[in-house]
Amino acid sequence: MNRDVSDKIRILVRQKNALILAHNYQPPEIQDIADMCGDSLELSIKAADTDAEIIVFCGVHFMAETASILCPEKTILLPRTDAGCPMADMVTTEALEEKIKSMPEIPVVTYVNSSAAVKAMSTICCTSANAVKVVQSLDANEVLMVPDRNLAAYTAGHTGKKVHFWDGFCPYHDRLDPDTVSRAKKRYPEALFMAHPECRPEITAMADIVTSTSGMLEYAGKSESDEFIVGTETGLIYALEKANPAKTFHPASEHMYCQDMKKITLADIEASLKNLSAEVRVAEEIRIPALSAVKKMLLI
Ligand code: 13P
Ligand code: SF4
Repeated sequence: MNRDVSDKIRILVRQKNALILAHNYQPPEIQDIADMCGDSLELSIKAADTDAEIIVFCGVHFMAETASILCPEKTILLPRTDAGCPMADMVTTEALEEKIKSMPEIPVVTYVNSSAAVKAMSTICCTSANAVKVVQSLDANEVLMVPDRNLAAYTAGHTGKKVHFWDGFCPYHDRLDPDTVSRAKKRYPEALFMAHPECRPEITAMADIVTSTSGMLEYAGKSESDEFIVGTETGLIYALEKANPAKTFHPASEHMYCQDMKKITLADIEASLKNLSAEVRVAEEIRIPALSAVKKMLLI
């Protein structure tokens, strides 16, 4: 059944000059059918750089929006319109406007896990892969970071700058607690612990490396170690095992399961390509200022 649908999808991709991009958390069958898998930064770079006329974004809404910001001439499809990011929803333009008014004039550094409208109000964007570099690049000793308080704390610790934070968080990364990590470390004493910067500071302090999802793939591939505890959404385990069949990966917690990242199915992708739905398009008055913030990040 999956084989049939996969074959149909690949035919549609060729006929329509499309490209399927999938985030590293997507289910195995979607990672397998994608033209490229990656973290948020890699997928944005690829979207900006392809000749395809249609991009099918297998991830969540803010990722498809970022592609639309970068390539307004392309048709960007998100096969499930209800695939969102709860953290991105924790900052609204109204609340951010209030916050900006209440503070001295400092750069606003916005995590890509945010709406296009919030990006449009920002000085520059960042991802989990480049947040430290982005903040270091700014000619300011004080910044406001939205919406992830944990990424802000991690960035503050690695730049020495004063980082004002927004009180947002990823419900799945934020729930990983030190006892759970300690138990995993006891159970797998030889394993290295990789943590995503969306985890709480107590957790990142326990990690051998703190990095993006693709950063974990690179680290595990290059490491001499052959056993790892994975402190991020469990979908990454499939990508890690596929790239490193001789190595072993343990989830830090089975509860790190992002339901939004698992909504899209192969049948949704087939329907999306057939009907060219659902298109994600950012209005020009938002896209232009949002593009400025995204482009500044990509230039770093
Ligand atoms: P990455 O950019 O590291 O892949 O992370 C995206 C994300 O949503 C993490 O929860
Ligand atoms: Fe958003 Fe967390 Fe899901 Fe990433 S894992 S898409 S931050 S809810």
